[in-house]
Amino acid sequence: MADRYRLRPASPADAPALAALEEASFPDPWSVEQLLTALDDDAVRGMIAESASGEMVGYAISRTVADEGEVLSVTAAPGLRRRGIGGLLLDDALAGMRAAGAATAWLEVRESNQAAQALYHRAGFVVTGSRRRYYRHPVEDALLLRCDLRPTASSGHEAR
Ligand SMILES: CC(C)(COP(=O)(O)OP(=O)(O)OC[C@H]1O[C@@H](n2cnc3c(N)ncnc32)[C@H](O)[C@@H]1OP(=O)(O)O)[C@@H](O)C(=O)NCCC(=O)NCCS
Repeated sequence: MADRYRLRPASPADAPALAALEEASFPDPWSVEQLLTALDDDAVRGMIAESASGEMVGYAISRTVADEGEVLSVTAAPGLRRRGIGGLLLDDALAGMRAAGAATAWLEVRESNQAAQALYHRAGFVVTGSRRRYYRHPVEDALLLRCDLRPTASSGHEAR
């Protein structure tokens, strides 16, 4: 099913649409300004998933510095979840990190976010710790997840 969607790099012009998707997906969404700042960073990879008709259906923002990558955000549009969009975007973000020279990927996820944790575990992430009261609105602990990106590692995700 994921082959219904294609990926393209995000540009500053996409920031308002990204912010709208953030708003619909997170209790503590990034603002247009925060998104513009992130996309302006050369170390950041922002990718948008689009339907065949050009509708934005998800996006991922990741960053690679030296041999470490970080997934900053992965989002599939509400109403279009469990169709492979998040997996497609996450696989692409990890591939981008590998290409940029990362050996390890990191991310934080809300302790209550079962859907995202399932997505990340399926891609090979394992819990390595937690960060107390990491999130605001509402306050919640984060789990810290790590994924080995070296060549023997496999995401295990099958695009649908
Ligand atoms: C997390 C999120 C990005 C997943 O996107 P998605 O497009 O629904 O994910 P996929 O369809 O690619 O799912 C891939 C796999 O992840 C797991 N998964 C995803 N959502 C799940 C859920 N709600 N419950 C259990 N497992 C889930 C499953 O293993 C799934 O494979 P399957 O459908 O064959 O069982 C999406 O739920 C989302 O946008 N949530 C809000 C934003 C968010 O929390 N982002 C992550 C924090 S940065």
